[in-house]
Formats: sequence, C-alpha cells, structure tokens
Amino acid sequence: MTSEPKTLPTEARFIPKRLEEVRKRALENPEEFFAEIARELEWFKTWDKVLDDSNPPFYRWFVGGLINASYNAVDRHLKRGLRNKAAIIWEGEPGDTRVLTYYQLYREVNRFAAVLENLGLRKGDTIAFYLPMIPELPIFMLAAARLGITFTVVFSGFSAKALAERINDAKAKVLVTADGGFRRGKVIELKKIADEALEMAPSVETVIVVKNVTARGAKIDVPLTEGRDYWLHNLLPAHAKVDPVPVESTHPLFILYTSGTTGKPKGVVHSTGGYLVWVYATMKWVFDVKPDDVMFCTADIGWITGHSYVVFGPLLHGITTVMYEGAPDYPAPDRWWQIVEKYGVTIFYTAPTAIRMLMRYGEEWVKKHDLSTLRILGTVGEPINPEAWKWYYTVVGGERCPIVDTWWQTETGGIMISPAPGIQLVPLKPGSATYPLPGVDADVVCEDGSPCPPGQRGYLVIKRPWPGMLMTLWGDPERYVRTYWQRFSKPEEGKWIYYPADYAMKDEDGYFWILGRADEVIKVAGHRLGTAEIESALVSHPAVAEAAVVGKPDPVKGEVPVAFVVLRQGYTPSEELRHELVEHVRKTLGPIAVPAAIFFVEKLPKTRSGKIMRRVIKAVLLGKTPGDLTTLEDEASLDEIRRALEEFK
Ligand code: PRX
Repeated sequence: MTSEPKTLPTEARFIPKRLEEVRKRALENPEEFFAEIARELEWFKTWDKVLDDSNPPFYRWFVGGLINASYNAVDRHLKRGLRNKAAIIWEGEPGDTRVLTYYQLYREVNRFAAVLENLGLRKGDTIAFYLPMIPELPIFMLAAARLGITFTVVFSGFSAKALAERINDAKAKVLVTADGGFRRGKVIELKKIADEALEMAPSVETVIVVKNVTARGAKIDVPLTEGRDYWLHNLLPAHAKVDPVPVESTHPLFILYTSGTTGKPKGVVHSTGGYLVWVYATMKWVFDVKPDDVMFCTADIGWITGHSYVVFGPLLHGITTVMYEGAPDYPAPDRWWQIVEKYGVTIFYTAPTAIRMLMRYGEEWVKKHDLSTLRILGTVGEPINPEAWKWYYTVVGGERCPIVDTWWQTETGGIMISPAPGIQLVPLKPGSATYPLPGVDADVVCEDGSPCPPGQRGYLVIKRPWPGMLMTLWGDPERYVRTYWQRFSKPEEGKWIYYPADYAMKDEDGYFWILGRADEVIKVAGHRLGTAEIESALVSHPAVAEAAVVGKPDPVKGEVPVAFVVLRQGYTPSEELRHELVEHVRKTLGPIAVPAAIFFVEKLPKTRSGKIMRRVIKAVLLGKTPGDLTTLEDEASLDEIRRALEEFK
C-alpha cells in the first residue's frame, strides 16, 4: 500500500554523528571497511582482492578467498563454547516442538551431507528443495553448502508447474521434498505436487522424501517411485563426518527465483563470500545482535528473508533462531505472541501485511502475553502505513522497541536501507526506512538520472556495488545487465548504476521513503508477483485470448491482483468460467497468485504498437484520470473496462 508519506514533526534536527561517520568511512574506503568485517568470519584462505570491478556490472567480492557457509554457520561456534546452545527452536503448527543445539545441528548437517555425498553430488551440482517450514530445510541448505552444492529453495506454496519451471532452469539433479506440510490444520500433500512437477522436469534423477506429516499422525498415501524416490530416514547414516569443502568466495551458494516483468521467473544467483559478509554485517547494524538474542523472523525460508534472517544471519552470529511452521492466526490470532513469550524472543521480524492482519483482531490478543523480552521489531517486504507502524510500536513493542523498517530485495541479499540501532539509532518516522546502511550508496533520481530534489518522487538507485549483491541471473547474464543496469548506467563514462525498480523519495532530512514498485511487479501480502506471470497463466487456458493484470490496493494485503480477460471466440463470460480461471491460476502458479477479481472485456487498452496499457487500466480501476492517452489505439477500450467494472458492482 502506498500511502502518502507524512513527515512527523521531529523535535530538533538530529545529526546522527556516529552513523554518519561509519557511513563515510565505508564509502571512502570500502575495501578496507568490508575486509575488516569479513575477517570476523573464518576463511580457509584470505582473499587477494576485496572487490574486483574489472568487468562491471559483474562485480566480484573477496576474490581469491576460500570459505564455506556451513562451516561458518555451524562448526565455527563449536570452538566458541556454544555446543549446547539452542541454534534452532522449531515450533510446529499443532504445537509440537524441536530444539537443535549447535552441536546437534552440526551432527545433523554432517549426516545430511553424507546422504548428498553418497548420491554422488558434489561442488558445481545443483539441488532443489521443496519443503515446508521444518528443521530439515535449513539442515539440507547447510548440508548442500558444506559440499559446495548450489541449492535452490522453492516456496512450498508454489504449484507443480512453478516447481518444474524452477527445477528445469536450475538443472537440479536431486529434489528434496516431504510427504506433506501442515497449514491451518490441513495437510498439503507436497509429494503429490512434486510428482506432478517431475513429469515436467526430466533432469531430476533422485527424490529424497522427508517423513513429516505421516510421522506426526497424518493419514495420507505417499507413493514412491522405485529407483527414483527414497525416504530420507532410509538414507541417513547413524552418524557421519563430512569435511566442509572450501569454495571460492564467488562460488554460487544458492539460486533463488523471483518475479520480474516477464512471465519467466529470474534465477537470482548469490555468491558465498559476499553474501555471507553482507548478511553478517546487516545483522549487527540493523538488529544490534547480542550473544543471548533469540530471533524470530516469521518469513518462510522459501523467500529471501527466510534465507538471510531465519537461516544464515542468526546462525552466522551463533544466536538462536525460531522457526514456526504454520499460519500466524492459527489456531488463534495470538499464535506468534505465544511463541514470543514462550521462547523469550528478543528480535522479531515480519511483514506489514501480517501486522495489518493481526491488528484487525484487536490488541487483546497481544496483551494476553508478556512480550517484555522484545528489543527490536522489524518490518520488510512492502511500505508500512503509519497506522500499522504505530500499532506495532505501541501495542507489540510497548513503546520500548525501535521499529526497523528495512528496504531490500531478493537481489540485494540483505538489508540495504534501514535504521541501524547497532550503530546509532536515529529518530524514526513511521513509513520511512531512514538512511542507507554503510557501503550502500543510494539515491533518488528523476527520469533522466539526475538527483531528485527533496520531497519529489523519483526512482531509487544504488550507485556502487555492495558485498551482498546478486552475481548474475542464472543462465542469463544479458537479462541481468538489461534488468538492473541498463536504465540509469552510463557505461561510456564508466558509471554503473543499479536499478531496483522502486519509486522513492528523500525528504528534507535525507530520510528515504520507499513508495512502491515502478515496474509490472506487484506485492501481494508481501510476496512479489509479476503481473506478466499471472497473465501468461491466464492465457494458457483455452478460453482466454488475452489478459491484463494490475494491482489493486488492499487494506490488509497491500495489493491484490485483478485481471481483465478477453475470451476467445466461442466462449462466453459466465460465473462458472470465472471460477475455472481462478482454479487454473491456482494450479499453474499457486494460491498466492490467484486474482481477487476477474473481469471479462471485449478488448484491452493498447498502444498503437500493440502493448497493453496497464497504467491506464489501473487508473480506471481506481477511478482516477488515466493521464496521457496519446498513444492509446482505441478509446472505446477504456469504456469497456468501465463497463466491466460497473457490471461487477
Ligand atoms: O518494492 C520493494 C519491496 O519489496 C521488493 C522486493 O521484493 P522481494 O525481492 O520479494 O524481497 C522482499 C524481502 C526483502 C522491493 O523492490 N520492499 C521491500 N522492503 C520494503 C519494500 N517496500 C517498502 N518498504 C520496505 N521496507
């Protein structure tokens, strides 16, 4: 939801001296600055060069260095006296729990790594994980990383087709899934979805199946294909030691698919060294990590927030991470607060959409619990509206905890713009992510790339590389350059500027306000969806000739997708067909992509060159004036949209 930014009156103009000093040092001498942080991790061999910028925009960090993610997240802590400290506290939706100490995690990671090794997987291979929020997921991520196997986690809410597409793009040889997962008391039969995906994904030779729901009382059939599918427990050795493989800093740790402006998801590739250093540093700055912290980041590990702040961030720091399997309001709207109280959570990190949803249930649900251990509250994924911010600050945080509104993306690896209480807390303004973190050279520019004056909306840009940045898009380096670097870079002048495709504004105090996406991507309940992906799902149905999808503001979800559909000859609009299309999108992409409404129209507004004018559709949908219509081919198409909307009322 993009609310108009309102600057709250701040007392006197505050000069964050310490923060400014650190930011200045990072920008003046980034190599020295980041080398100092990188040295806090353990390297098998120190890098030769902190930043290799010889082939922009393919920047490479800590080149020549050898490191292992699993070793740094697990083994390193055993020597620091953390053997019996809780690494992962897991809570299942039905209320069952599991705790893994650092030593137990170490043993499990070794056993799981032995399974992968015995299957013949090695550095350079890729593996796909399609798992619910159970401890086996981070254990497998760490086991893969231990061997230098590049992993890709596919969110367990995605459909068979979406899973197949990702497996095929990543060319994964092995898929790890589970019999099923629990969600709102129901069983999602993941193995069945995986089987469907595998019919479309021939690269997979082996499937490892985690016995999850059937081990916890669910009665479902789990068919295994002989010679291809194996229960994990039948492969696991009783104990094993697998040496961590030192990999180059630039070795791809993982690929994570995210939505862009075309129907094809982008495989964002993250490095090992740079990514780890960035996640490690941002944990310090933003969450002000202390040794006895208990961090509860509510994101699913299937998204980047889960990768960086459920798994790697907390484990790199040797603190306790809390993983919860289910829905925030199941069985009751105080499920999260119960968990915070039960485990003494100190850092809580979630999305604005969840805050808005929980806010609707009323504050009694929060007040029932002692949340006095909380120290820092974070938000991520979409702009937060001031009402939700204030509720979070007052009701959840008891006006004691700073809210860190963190702006970043799948591509950035970790947080980029955010308050940094670990360095110095600045006065907060609800809805502003405050300042860029050290080493992040962010600005807001106008159409022509010139800096935007304070108070004016422009485009967010990052003017130099940072360690957590993506290395490329898997198998498509041209798309990497085109998507992120073409818009504002001036290669002939040696200027390379990263374009995140977000609108932003800087205010008089230099605070950044992120104002929503500037491309055809929408954020639905914090999840990133390409309107083009939903459109191509719709047109893959035999009844649909053309489709246009736009985001409509929603008080809880931020935005919801709304579709305008032109039917093929021989098909007529009906409630039944509408329902069929909804089901078709659910099946093709997954439940999160389902349009909130589908409108049937005779034609769509297009430019003379045949491009659908989503901007115009959106304006009509919101009852606004459509703006510049000089390129519109046929004005009658607008009346069509109006008529469809009217009929729906
Ligand atoms: O539009 C911005 C929005 O989420 C996008 C990135 O989405 P994704 O790659 O799925 O990563 C989400 C979690 C890091 C951004 O381009 N976004 C993220 N954080 C914020 C935000 N918008 C406003 N305020 C934020 N704090």
